[in-house]
Amino acid sequence: MISLAILISGRGSNMESILRAIKKNRIPVKPAIVISNKPDAKGLKIAHKLGVPTAIVESGGQKGGSWEYDKKLVSTLEENGVTPSNGLVCLAGFMRIMSPEFIRKYRGRILNIHPAILPSFPGLHSQRQALEYGVKYSGCTVHFVDEGVDTGPILLQAVVKVHENDTEETLSKRILRQEHKIYPEAVRLFAEGRIKTTGRKTTVAYESRPLKK
Ligand code: GAR
Repeated sequence: MISLAILISGRGSNMESILRAIKKNRIPVKPAIVISNKPDAKGLKIAHKLGVPTAIVESGGQKGGSWEYDKKLVSTLEENGVTPSNGLVCLAGFMRIMSPEFIRKYRGRILNIHPAILPSFPGLHSQRQALEYGVKYSGCTVHFVDEGVDTGPILLQAVVKVHENDTEETLSKRILRQEHKIYPEAVRLFAEGRIKTTGRKTTVAYESRPLKK
C-alpha cells in the first residue's frame, strides 16, 4: 500500500478533504504523516484530531528550493515510511518551492493542487491574477511536480465560472470547493495505480462501473 505524506503551510482544508476520504475507505493509502513548515499551521490541529501523525520541519528564513531544507524533509518522510519506492507526497498549500534534488528523488510521486487552470496564472495569488485578467472561467489543477513552478504534467482539472461581482475571496471559495473534490480523487487514482504518464501527458484508466460519489 502507498504511504502518503501531506505537506502544508496553513489552513489545511485540502489535507482535510484527503484525510476524510481516506477515513471513509475511499482511498487505499496509509496516511503516514502530515508535515508543516510552519509551527502554527491550523491544519496541524485538524490532522491531530483525525489521528494522523504530524511533524514540523521549520523553514524559518531558509529560501525555497534549497536542498539543505529539503534534506530534512526527506529524513522526516523516510522516518515515517514515505520512501521513493512506496510513497506519495501531496503538497496541499505548502508554500515553498521544492529543490531539484527533492524532485529527482521522489519524481512521479509528488502532487500539487493549484487554484487556477494551468498553465494560466501559475505562482502566487492565482485567483487575483484571474480576476485582474478578466477571464470568464477559472478553476483548479492537480499536477505532478517537476522542476518548474506549477509546470508538471496535469492530472485533473475542474472549472468554475467567474461572476461579474466576484472578489478574490468569493472566487477563491468557489474554486476551493472544487479543489476538495479533485484532490482526493487524484490521490485515489494514484493509489489505485491508474495513472500513466508519457512526457507531459497523463492518462487515467477508469473502471467501467460509475465512480462512487
Ligand atoms: C489552496 O487554495 C491551494 O490551491 C493553494 O493554497 C490554498 C491552500 O489552502 N495553493 C497554492 O496557491 C499553491 N501555489 P488549504 O491550506 O486550505 O488547503
